[in-house]
Amino acid sequence: MNTTATGGNGGGSADIYLLAAHPHWRDSRVNRALFDAARSAPNVRVTDLYSTYPDYAIDIETEQARLAEARMLVLLHPIQWYSMPALQKLWIDDVFGYGWAYGPGGRALEGKDLWLVATTGGPEASYHPSSYNRYFFDAFLPPYEQTAALCGMRFLPPLMFHGARRASSEELGRHVDVFSERLASYPNWPELEELAACPACEVPAADRPTEVEATEKA
Ligand SMILES: Cc1cc2nc3c(=O)[nH]c(=O)nc-3n(C[C@H](O)[C@H](O)[C@H](O)COP(=O)(O)O)c2cc1C
Repeated sequence: MNTTATGGNGGGSADIYLLAAHPHWRDSRVNRALFDAARSAPNVRVTDLYSTYPDYAIDIETEQARLAEARMLVLLHPIQWYSMPALQKLWIDDVFGYGWAYGPGGRALEGKDLWLVATTGGPEASYHPSSYNRYFFDAFLPPYEQTAALCGMRFLPPLMFHGARRASSEELGRHVDVFSERLASYPNWPELEELAACPACEVPAADRPTEVEATEKA
């Protein structure tokens, strides 16, 4: 897939910032269709992570500026080993910095929304205590949810597409339509009115001493 540093709104400020992370676009059917839909949606800025940062050298300043402008961050990716692709994880490691995204003075993401849009190879029924994935899919969400909470973000109900590899074209088409409708109608989603506010997660300064303080204690 071609590099798409910004799309949708062509690079101006956008309410929605969508990161698409697929290590092998040539093998993708579902994320590719979702990404194409996002690219043509108005008011969505998109970044294709693996094309934009093939060397894994993430431009932290640019990414933070894009996030600061947006009201919602969308993570679009296939679930790999019950988690996110490696470059998506590195992006969070680098961009959600201490003192910027969380911790003392770290309020840049406060009040924003985080929406996970992900796909699995395993069908929904496989995410069950009696099947080979052993857990309901929700059991794999706390790392996403708590990352959002620590940064003061609301974790919106994820949009999942299970059994991606064997879904019919009709099922995929319907899913893409739901996704497009959600992007177009954000933030006017009925369920958001009932969603609890993000829990407060203050990190006490003493939990993360400066290097000098740590050395003095040693
Ligand atoms: C390295 C790797 C790890 C994967 N791990 C999982 C997994 O933990 N659970 C699962 O249900 N599917 C897993 N899959 C399957 C992908 O999630 C699935 O192929 C993808 O969601 C299909 O979307 P696409 O058409 O955009 O590639 C994995 C695939 C790869 C390549």
